[in-house]
Amino acid sequence: MRRAKITIVGAGNVGATTAHWCAAAELGNIVLLDIPQTGDMPKGKALDLRQASPIVGFDAEIIGTTDYADTLGSDVVVITAGIPRKPGMSRDDLLTTNAKIMTDVCEQVQKSSDHAIVIVVSNPLDAMVQRAQQVTGFEPHRVMGQAGVLDTARYRTFLAMELGVSVEDISALLMGGHGDTMVPIPSCTSVGGIPVSQLIDPERLDAIVDRTRNGGAEIVALLKTGSAYYAPAAATAQMVEAVVRDKKRLIPCAAYCDKEYGVGGYYVGVPAIIGASGVERVVELKLTKDERVAFQKSIDAVKQLVAKMAELA
Ligand code: NAI
Ligand code: 2OP
Repeated sequence: MRRAKITIVGAGNVGATTAHWCAAAELGNIVLLDIPQTGDMPKGKALDLRQASPIVGFDAEIIGTTDYADTLGSDVVVITAGIPRKPGMSRDDLLTTNAKIMTDVCEQVQKSSDHAIVIVVSNPLDAMVQRAQQVTGFEPHRVMGQAGVLDTARYRTFLAMELGVSVEDISALLMGGHGDTMVPIPSCTSVGGIPVSQLIDPERLDAIVDRTRNGGAEIVALLKTGSAYYAPAAATAQMVEAVVRDKKRLIPCAAYCDKEYGVGGYYVGVPAIIGASGVERVVELKLTKDERVAFQKSIDAVKQLVAKMAELA
């Protein structure tokens, strides 16, 4: 069977680490692309990673490049190109710079891989994924954004730390935008099948949700030179796997919602089934009144950001 061709645009921290997780899981052949100003850096990272293959035990061609000709006919394109946050910056501060980068990248992706499924990672995520769909002109289900898998993983990690149980036993869901307005769904959070509300009191749970909302900023404050990349890259690789192995994973991601949840044509974080054709279905949950209010607030924040991006042209 032919190996999938996975292009990762942006060979920085998230891009290179996504390549690492994808290679280790033998998801396909990988092309790591960056801008010409980075010289041979993508080639160096690709060769280094390929030399890990006999040790880790994976078969994959991995190349680094600054030329989209090498990406021709990719099955999946992951976009991590853009600047990350520095301490004191919000994701939205990245809007002006990254919107332009996203436009440039997507014009190239449209020309070189017009059948690809596109997974956007660059921030501010919910606006960038919208821009990616507009510029490529791909059907909305073929373009999606990674945020929910990461945010949920952070939440699950903190819950496991709180309870001293395996992360494997924690099932949780967060919806809405990637950022301060993300919405936890307590009715979908359980530990070994037990509703979380029976194990953690409301004040403590609120504190854990708060820590999750600030999960990205907490890492930025510790690193001081950039933002998180191990967990974001692992989250992205999980989405790549869902596509190349047609797994039909039911995971949260930034998916295009029109009638769904009454969103009206925006990308927001929702539970969705991900398979070979991208977002195969957005799953609509019955939300409680409080969850609906919080989700609407999150949608409004995404709409404001997209409007701000439109003003930049
Ligand atoms: P980084 O600075 O390590 O890497 C970014 C790379 O993009 C650089 O190598 C840069 O040369 C490249 N780049 C810039 N313009 C480009 C272009 N036009 N074409 C191709 N490559 C280009 O940054 P890092 O840490 O990898 O973060 C990348 C982006 O991902 C940031 O916007 C960050 O905020 C975002 N991010 C999103 C997460 C999410 O959950 N959605 C999680 C973590 C980061
Ligand atoms: C994060 O949540 C920066 O969005 C990135 O870590």
